[in-house]
Amino acid sequence: MTQIIDGKKISAEIKDELKEQAAAYRDRGKEICLAVIQVGDDPASCVYVRNKKKACEYIGIRSLSYELPGETTEAELLSLVGELNARADVNGILVQLPLPEQINEEKVLNAISPLKDVDGFHPMNVGALCIGKKGFVSCTPAGVIQLLKRSGISISGKECVVVGRSNIVGKPMSLLLLRENGTVTVAHSRTADLKEVTRRADILVVAVGKPRMITADYVKEGAVVVDVGIHRDENNKLCGDVDYASVSPHCSAITPVPGGVGPMTIAMLMKNCVESILLQETYTDEADCP
Ligand code: GUN
Repeated sequence: MTQIIDGKKISAEIKDELKEQAAAYRDRGKEICLAVIQVGDDPASCVYVRNKKKACEYIGIRSLSYELPGETTEAELLSLVGELNARADVNGILVQLPLPEQINEEKVLNAISPLKDVDGFHPMNVGALCIGKKGFVSCTPAGVIQLLKRSGISISGKECVVVGRSNIVGKPMSLLLLRENGTVTVAHSRTADLKEVTRRADILVVAVGKPRMITADYVKEGAVVVDVGIHRDENNKLCGDVDYASVSPHCSAITPVPGGVGPMTIAMLMKNCVESILLQETYTDEADCP
């Protein structure tokens, strides 16, 4: 029987744990605060931002909302980030992506204090992950690790294949699996024989951004398959990068879309917000960052 990994249930468990931790901080007079910045009105971003604010409310995190017009200049956005960096009452800063084309995304993400970078996108946090130091970890890959651990799937010693090498998912995903003592291969669009590589995987994590690309012939019998993709197909139905119908009978465990990895991203963002207090207490100055 294939185990269906229930991201909705696991993310709800995590959010309930975080709610308790946030309450404990409040009892000690500490309120956690996340600043969320959105520039323009990209419809998908509006949904994500709304869900992030809803999650904050559920857990007991104060959220500050900055909804800036699409014509906002890079200098204006950088100035707001600078202000929020300096505010002692703001623990986390999130700039929703994508940004309008007049704004250099990298410049803005790099301007966020690494001590408030709850998305885990700042090079300092990516570097910390790379060398095994404390820091914020990108939410989606951190969520995948939680899904595996909380489903009783061990990573240590396993052949792990990550398909996709983006800065937000593929690369940090491979580093996290390595940190858990997996034997990690990163495959991508230029991989010569993708099927040969993916068929080696005990744990296959797919983040390619192509609807239902991974069919049963890419998967070893009994593998664990984690699908990071989310798309709408020609019938407006949600689907992932994995062809769930053909792949799932061959897996020992699989994440569905929707209800697998998706709900974990916000749960891990909330976890980063709660943990930001600890990091900020330990490292009061950016220069001391781990
Ligand atoms: N846009 C899509 N996903 C994300 C995310 O995880 N963080 C931010 N900041 N923007 C996004």
